[in-house]
Amino acid sequence: ARIVVLISGSGSNLQALLDATTDPAYGARVVAVGADRDGIAGLDRAVAAGVPTFVAPLKAYDSREDWDRALTAQVAEHRPDLIISAGFLKLVGPQFLAAFGDRYLNTHNTLLPAFPGIHGPRDALAYGVKITGATLFFVDAGMDTGPIVAQVAVPVLDDDDEESLTERIKSAERRQLVEQVGRLVRNGWTITGRKVTIP
Ligand code: GRF
Repeated sequence: ARIVVLISGSGSNLQALLDATTDPAYGARVVAVGADRDGIAGLDRAVAAGVPTFVAPLKAYDSREDWDRALTAQVAEHRPDLIISAGFLKLVGPQFLAAFGDRYLNTHNTLLPAFPGIHGPRDALAYGVKITGATLFFVDAGMDTGPIVAQVAVPVLDDDDEESLTERIKSAERRQLVEQVGRLVRNGWTITGRKVTIP
């Protein structure tokens, strides 16, 4: 299977996928990495792995619609079977979802539907939950609302701060991402309403 990964930051989830896909038995390879900004460590990781990259900054386009169309075209060039947002901090638009809505995964650093948005661990800590985690889901038009593929629970410890909790979540999140993407590419999936079935 051909995977395109979209990123906005450090790319540690991307790295976990790059590492896993070096094993041919995994059944997939990362054929391109796209970003919404330049100068991020995740792009260096892609280059180091010999994977082609592209950058589509929102502000380089006249409108969000133009950006959506350009991003969709750039991703489509790589003929992906699966697209993974691994810390991609932009909501994609209707063009993108029309083209890829049944194969666009995102990983989020809380147990959805609790604490959507970009400050998940901070919000979970502030609320005082004792268990949080990470959610892998297919993206729909909402923010962090799509059909859930898998979740992993992570404890919140009494002396956690945002950084320690974020790191604990991220290590579980990376393992889940690698395991579940492998399962999806080997077995396929169907999305019925909000449910994802993996045979
Ligand atoms: C992940 O924890 C993801 O859930 C959040 O951003 C993080 C991305 O980290 N949205 P990285 O760039 O993969 O290191």
